[in-house]
Amino acid sequence: MNTTELAAHWMPFTPNKAFKANPRMLVGAQGMYWTTDEQRQVLDMTAGLWCCNAGHGHPHIAEAIARQAQTLDYAPCFGFGHPLSFELSERLAQLAPGNLNKVFYTNSGSESVETALKMALAYHQAQGNGGKQIFIGRERGYHGVNFGGISVGGLTNNHKAFGQWIPNDHLSHTQDLELNAFSRGLPLYGGEEKANELEKLIKRHDASRIAAVIIEPISGAGGVLPPPIGYLKRIREICDRHGILLIFDEVICGFGRTGNVFASQTFDVIPDIITTAKGLTNGAAPMGAVLAGDHIYEAVVEGAGAGVELFHGYTYSAHPLACAAAMATLDIYEQEGLYHRGAEKGELARYFEQGLHSLKGLPGVVDIRNYSLLAAVEFEPLNGKPGATGGLIQTAAWEQGMMLRSLGDAIAMSPPLIIEKSHIDDAIGILELSIRQQLS
Ligand SMILES: Cc1ncc(COP(=O)(O)O)c(C=O)c1O
Repeated sequence: MNTTELAAHWMPFTPNKAFKANPRMLVGAQGMYWTTDEQRQVLDMTAGLWCCNAGHGHPHIAEAIARQAQTLDYAPCFGFGHPLSFELSERLAQLAPGNLNKVFYTNSGSESVETALKMALAYHQAQGNGGKQIFIGRERGYHGVNFGGISVGGLTNNHKAFGQWIPNDHLSHTQDLELNAFSRGLPLYGGEEKANELEKLIKRHDASRIAAVIIEPISGAGGVLPPPIGYLKRIREICDRHGILLIFDEVICGFGRTGNVFASQTFDVIPDIITTAKGLTNGAAPMGAVLAGDHIYEAVVEGAGAGVELFHGYTYSAHPLACAAAMATLDIYEQEGLYHRGAEKGELARYFEQGLHSLKGLPGVVDIRNYSLLAAVEFEPLNGKPGATGGLIQTAAWEQGMMLRSLGDAIAMSPPLIIEKSHIDDAIGILELSIRQQLS
């Protein structure tokens, strides 16, 4: 495509001018590979944007969407319903941990986050605690791009032009290179101490004003930061002690990314609300789902009078095509054993870990961290150009046939869960070459 043909699309999270001068176009995808407009095959080590967990182009999903489009293309879900959304909800409730049995549909991770924040406020209001309005997020957290999400998120670029309009405060992030560099699996040190910071924030604001803590069990877009041992459990304990809700943003972690359906199960910590999206439909249709505890639903819905209980929802909530895609996706995850394929102690995760850590000692590499089939390699910032190294490595890898995600001075990998050892070998080989080319 030429410059004129590329002009109209204002692309998201993209350096538009650079892209349009040198476009990287995808025209097809199958299994572990993209096809580019030059008919190159590119190994997908990112599952798209952390979403195509079952790999690309699965016929079962394509057929389900096509069939649904011919049967019921759309159904409003304000005051009306269609059977598939109830079947899907029942299935998600079965998969969810603890009492998270109520499912509210959105179209994206960002909308799931907004929905979860509103649920928390509505819950406290229904309990007579309307003063609980502050949300605690975490530095380097990413919770999407809407106003609630950028308020609780901890990535400065995402809010500096827009503000943070929801009352908020933030825990520090959990990365500590002095204590935990080159950690394999969960970092060993500092978990409880880091979590205890929440007590300080509670002292600062008072528990009577704090609605919820929202964190990703493993920070994704902030650099892939697995929680140090003990961290999540301690956060849960502190929330319980002070009547503060805990929201896990599992938009990346959900649907097999940590070796279980949800990271909540992997880390044995049950939050009050889980946000999901991405892997729910394998990326094949836009959809998010918020899983809320029975206590949240009972307070907000059962406790209310007649009429609409929660003034919230989207035109495309529970869209029939997305529900069909999600049902088919869950079939594949179950049939192909994908929820547990990347289990931390499993053969595949171990192989991935060994490959990654063989890169220690390469020029510029200051950290390698991984959990299950999720990993990051971090580089020393270039003089005068902090945040540029990830992009350099990403471009070099793309030219050699592999897609990576660049995150400032790091690159992330979150491959489809169908990955085989031979793909891991290829990925580590290309990454090594890219690092040597760019940073020697
Ligand atoms: C943890 C987390 N929450 C929310 C979002 C936002 O999702 P979306 O881009 O679908 O709005 C993302 C996206 O990467 C995410 O990683």
